[in-house]
Order: sequence, then structure tokens, then C-alpha cells
Amino acid sequence: DGFAATKLFNQGYSYTYDDVIFLPHYIDFPTDAVSLSTRLTRRVPLLAPIISSPMDTVTEGCMASAMASLGGLGIIHSNLPTDVQASMVRSVKSRRVPILSTPTFMSASHRIESLDDFESCPYVLVTQSGSPSSKLLGYVSRSDWLQLDDHKKGTRIDTYMTSSDELVVPWNYSLSQMDAYFQEKRERDLAVLVREEQEVVDVVTREEVEKVKEYPRLGAGTVGPDGGWRVGAALGTREVDKERLEHLVKAGVDVVVFDSSQGNSIYQIEMIKYVKRMYPDLDVVGGNVVTMAQAENLINAGADGLRVGMGSGSICTTQEVCAVGRGQATAVYKVASIASQSDVPVIADGGISYSGHIVKALVLGASTVMMGGFLAGSIESPGAYEYQNGSQVKKYRGMGSLEAMTKGSDARYLGDKAKLKIAQGVVGAVADKGSVLKFIPYTMQAVKQGFQDLGASSLQSAHDLLRKGVLRLEVRTGAAQVEGGVHGLVSYEKKAF
Ligand code: XMP
Repeated sequence: DGFAATKLFNQGYSYTYDDVIFLPHYIDFPTDAVSLSTRLTRRVPLLAPIISSPMDTVTEGCMASAMASLGGLGIIHSNLPTDVQASMVRSVKSRRVPILSTPTFMSASHRIESLDDFESCPYVLVTQSGSPSSKLLGYVSRSDWLQLDDHKKGTRIDTYMTSSDELVVPWNYSLSQMDAYFQEKRERDLAVLVREEQEVVDVVTREEVEKVKEYPRLGAGTVGPDGGWRVGAALGTREVDKERLEHLVKAGVDVVVFDSSQGNSIYQIEMIKYVKRMYPDLDVVGGNVVTMAQAENLINAGADGLRVGMGSGSICTTQEVCAVGRGQATAVYKVASIASQSDVPVIADGGISYSGHIVKALVLGASTVMMGGFLAGSIESPGAYEYQNGSQVKKYRGMGSLEAMTKGSDARYLGDKAKLKIAQGVVGAVADKGSVLKFIPYTMQAVKQGFQDLGASSLQSAHDLLRKGVLRLEVRTGAAQVEGGVHGLVSYEKKAF
């Protein structure tokens, strides 16, 4: 009944996730027996197969720490100055709570000029030198500052700050340790995370901890050998990227990910070899690729993981503009079938709109999925919410859109210094989705149910069942796709949990 994957994907068609459907298999275990633990690259294990995309409207520090706390991993985008990208890497690695406030730091003689100093965090922290790496002296909260009279507001901060006695907790306190701390110290509403030698990491409030602890099932997360979250960063292939790489390595990056729509190039191959030569302990993800030949080239150059997808992203126009790409289901299956022979894990990048797409990507051979649009619009994505037609939305844009390229990401789409910029992506907006800490655990539970329907209790078992032809698939006709979605209703509420 149905087709084995090898037959279905060798008929000359390029299939997207929606084109194909799995036939159910046999269930002999409960949903919770399904393990989604996996690997991002040869040497980076994960508890959950989810990666946030290196896009400037998706992954900065806040998203990366949330993804790590969920057992996945975030890749910090590179559309920023080198030192800013490296400092984001450092800040994700320097805490164990999925909360990132990025307070402003000042020395005791500084003055707070305006409310702008509270923009990223409702607290200004006062340290001896005014930088995070010196001793904490005190803090000023936004509400305390607003209550000062105008004369006082213009004075040195140490004339009205609250002193920091006993606010300090160790940098690597986990969420449950933070919770226990606030339960014990009933009178306190904030704590400051401090590393050895008095380096101030961040401030955490009682309110944030109360909110996050209500979210479902936050497990151990993706913790590296140094006890902090693991995090990745995007990298280009120009000469200047060698300097970027050095900064990222110094900041402790766990994996670097090339950011190119067509990764099978002499530039990337040379750069992969350079990274492996200079930093043999650092894992490198090559890509993007969609064919077996592309994949083989990057694996031979030393890639420890491959990013798969060309033109499948929700904001992509590469297939329309350049006439090159591949349906994502076919691309994932083909690349994974060759990469598995070299034990190189594959990331299915782009085109994820539902949990069912994640099931398809993983069963077809991917070890993780990389998501942009699915995570944009969450509290943890960069940028502020705006209103459009009465709904709350956040901007989401392609890294090959004119707007993003103007800010700096043209290396991904243009090669060197093309004078005429051609967009391969669009700028749009996505609906407010709340916190990833809330909706990703539900999504993962839905993925586990998909695995259970297929009789696969792990990624490895799904891959084995697919390869042996035990799992069967079919192509869906247009009418079958319509039937597979909600249809025939005048209206309905789209609420999944
Ligand atoms: P989703 O579907 O998750 O896709 O929103 C995210 C992925 O899309 C890729 N990407 C682009 N592709 N033009 C493209 O053709 C672009 O401007 C662009 N920006 C991002 C990228 O692989 C990302 O992870």
C-alpha cells in the first residue's frame, strides 16, 4: 500500500511538504515514550529538534536563550557589527534562565538623561566602572526614577539609587533555583546574576520568573560543557568574516552556520576548510544545499552539518527570481539520504508552517528543523509589536529583501560587490504569537503524536523505518490537500491548544 520514499522521490517531481502525506503505521507505545532528542551537527547534541533561523527579525539573544531553554538552539544572525554579534553570543552563554533583560549599565557619577535608558529593561544597573565587568553598586528602577522630582532626576545616579546589598545570585542559577530564591526572599522583587570576579550578567525579576514558570514543561535545555546555554552564530564567506569568526570563537560560540542561499561555491568550501583548520573543535554547518551533489561537496570540505532549502522559506522569492531551487520535501529526503552515509546531520530550513511540516521534515531524514516565520511574531523575536487592521503584528523580513540588504546582509544573496541589488525576499508582518516558551512545547507534543501514528519512537527509528520502506507515502492531489485542511465551514476558530 502506498509508496516507499525511494520510489516516490525518484519520479522526476519536486515535492513540497504539502504535496506528500504519510500513511499511518502501527502504535505500540504511548505518546510520551517518543523521544525527539537529536543532533544539530556531528558533535552538538540537542533535546529537541528545533533551531531558530539567523534572521534579523528572528534570532538575537532573547530568542537564542529561549530556544536553548527549550532544548533546541538559536543561531544569532550576522546582519550586525561583529562585536555586537559576539556580545549577544556571550550574553546567551552566560545565564541559565530563559529571560534576557539587557539592562543599561552606568557608573555612580552618571546621570539618567531620559526614559530611553530604560528601553531594553526596566532597571539601570550601577557598577563601579559603568561596565558589566565591574562590581555592582546599586540599581534604579524605571518606576523609582519616574517618581523623582525633576531636580533630583538631573543629579548623579548614586544620590538616589537603591544599594545592591544582597541582590546578587550566581550567574548559572536555573529557573527553578531562581524560583526557590524568590520563594525564600519574599520581600525581594529582583536579583542580579553575577559571574565570578564580579561580572554582572543580567537582572531577573520575580514577575518574569512567575510568568515563565507557568509555561509547560521546560526541561534541562541545551547546556554546554561550561554550564551555560549553547548558541550558534551565522557567518559569511568574505575575508572580513575571518575576523568575525575569531570574535565569535572568543565569545564561546558552539557552532557557526554559513548563511548562503547557494552554498555549493568555492567561497564556502574554502571557508569551511579554513574554519576546520583554524578551529578543529568548532562544528560548522554548511549550506544551503538542495541536491546530493551540492551536499557531497560540502561534506568533503569538512561540514559537520548541512542546511537544506532553497526558496522554500515563507519570505523567499529565490525560485521566482532566479529559477533555481527545489521542493522542500524532495530536497530534505535527497540530501539526508546522502548525508546520513557520512553521519552528517541535516537541518530542514524553511517552509515550516505547522507541526505536521515538522513531522514530515524529521521523518524524511532531517535531524532538526530551522524556522523563521514560525517563530517571528513571538515575544522573543527582535522588534516591537505594531498594529495592523486592529491586530498586533511584528515585522518579519527576508534576509534577501532590499530592506535587510540595505542594512548589510547582501553577502548572502549577491556575492561580492554587485552594484545592482536584486531582492530575493520580501518584507512582511506576522501575527503576535505570544511566547515561544509557551507554544513550542505544544508544537513538540503534536510532533510526538505524529511520530506515534507512524510507530516511530525516535528520530533514528523513523529514519530506519523510512529507509527500509516500512513507512509508506503518497502524493496528495489538489483536492486531497483541500480535504486535508479545514473545509466547508462558514467560520471557525483556529486555536490549537
Ligand atoms: P521560513 O519559512 O521558516 O523560512 O520563514 C526561513 C528561511 O528562509 C530563508 N531565507 C530567505 N530565502 N530570500 C530567500 O530566498 C530571503 O530573503 C530569505 N531570508 C531568509 C532562510 O534559509 C531562512 O532560514
